[in-house]
This record gives sequence, C-alpha cells and structure tokens, in this order.
Amino acid sequence: MNNHWRWMLGLTVAVLLLGMPAGAPADSGDSTRIDNEKQQACTIAGGYPYREKSDYVLKELDLKPGDVVVDIGAGDGWWSEKMGQAVGPEGVVHAGEVAQDKVDGMKKRFGESLPQCKAYVCPTDGTGLEENTCDLAFLSKTYHHLNHDGHVDYLRHLRSVVKPTGRVVVIERHIALSEGRQREHGWSPGLLTQTAEEAGWILVRSELITGTHHFIAIFAQKEMFASKAPEKKE
Ligand SMILES: C[S@@+](CC[C@H](N)C(=O)[O-])C[C@H]1O[C@@H](n2cnc3c(N)ncnc32)[C@H](O)[C@@H]1O
Repeated sequence: MNNHWRWMLGLTVAVLLLGMPAGAPADSGDSTRIDNEKQQACTIAGGYPYREKSDYVLKELDLKPGDVVVDIGAGDGWWSEKMGQAVGPEGVVHAGEVAQDKVDGMKKRFGESLPQCKAYVCPTDGTGLEENTCDLAFLSKTYHHLNHDGHVDYLRHLRSVVKPTGRVVVIERHIALSEGRQREHGWSPGLLTQTAEEAGWILVRSELITGTHHFIAIFAQKEMFASKAPEKKE
C-alpha cells in the first residue's frame, strides 16, 4: 500500500470513529432504531445540556450571513453570541431579555467584538420589534416562562415580526421526561405544536436532542405550505 492509500484509509477510519460514537446516534437524518437500552438516556450533565449539542442546533438553524434573529429570553447571551458569529457583521441578533441585569451582562459579553448582537430589554408579551424584520425567532428554555394564557397571542405576534419565509425555533425540556421541580421548567412538544398551529405556524421538524431530555421544534408560517402539487400530465 503506498502512502496515499494508507493516508486515505486512516482518514476514513477517523471519520467513521468520530461520526458514530458507540451507542449515541447523531441527531436528525440518522436511524431512530434503538440498539441499546441506554441510547435515549440523558448523558450530558448540568443545567444546559443542550448547549453541548450546539453544533447540531446551529446546523438545524442554518443561519446565513446577513440574517436577522431575535433571541427571546437570551439570558447570558450564550446562544446570541453563537448566532451572531453565524450571521456575521452584516446580520443582527436582537438579544431580548426582561431582566435589566441580564441585558447589562450581555452588553459586556458582546463588547465591541460582536456589534451585530444587540442586547435590549423586551416587554414580557412580545419582542418589541417591528413587523416583518426577522428571519428567525429563537426561544431556548424561554417558552415555558411566557404568560401561560398568552402563548397563542405571543406566537401570533411572532407571525408578524418574522418574515414570511422565517421560522420559529423552540428548545424546551420534554415534560414527560421530567420529574419534580424539573416539570415546572419543561413543556410538552405536542401542546407546543397544537398551540403553534392555532397561531398559524406549521411544525417542520421536532426531535429530541440526543444525550439530553430536551427537544427542538422548528416551525414555518402556514402560508409557505399553500401551493398545491402540480397537476400530473397524462
Ligand atoms: C432558562 S433562561 C434561558 C436562557 C437562554 N435562552 C438559554 O437557553 O441559555 C430563561 C430566560 O428567559 C427570560 N424571560 C422570562 N420571561 C420572558 C419573557 N416574557 N420574554 C423574554 N424573556 C423572558 C428570563 O429572564 C431568563 O433569562
């Protein structure tokens, strides 16, 4: 075997090993077959296990340079920072928070290096942004904090703020996989989908984030599904 083929073989083995860790299937597009009983277990510790799957989440978001995002309940700005890098200096990430101290913290975090990330105090019942301005509304662990009788109205508000081709992405802990106090900080993907449909959003994809008990749900505006399949010519 010459050096070229030895190098190619080594590369192939490395890709296979890195791409398929034993017992932990990658997300989205891969098989959902359960080959071992620990496969669906939560293996990532800490309060924000889904942050460790940020590569997967960012791939799902598929942000492009110049995109405009609103990160609702941006907290410490961890996701806003990542999304700010993805949209680049020509894009914007509106990092909305109801807590002034969190906004102050984010302003420090973004500093001068991420001017596209704009931390601001938002109202509790909306983003405070103008109509038709965002490509993506992102709510990571915030949806369950919204006023409990106000979810439909909030999602309707997002329909006006998000461009017709834009999306809403929600990450929450799966309530059926939560116990005790965790349940107060979880949500049902089924209920979320039902509420979003009432507000005019259609679920495009929802899945558990492997290694966590959190799910990601991605919605698009109902009008995007309006066209019929073309008539088949005989
Ligand atoms: C659990 S933290 C999530 C932080 C961040 N999104 C993340 O996933 O790392 C929830 C955040 O939502 C904020 N929040 C609560 N109600 C809100 C509302 N109505 N609008 C915007 N943010 C809200 C809280 O202040 C808190 O920082």
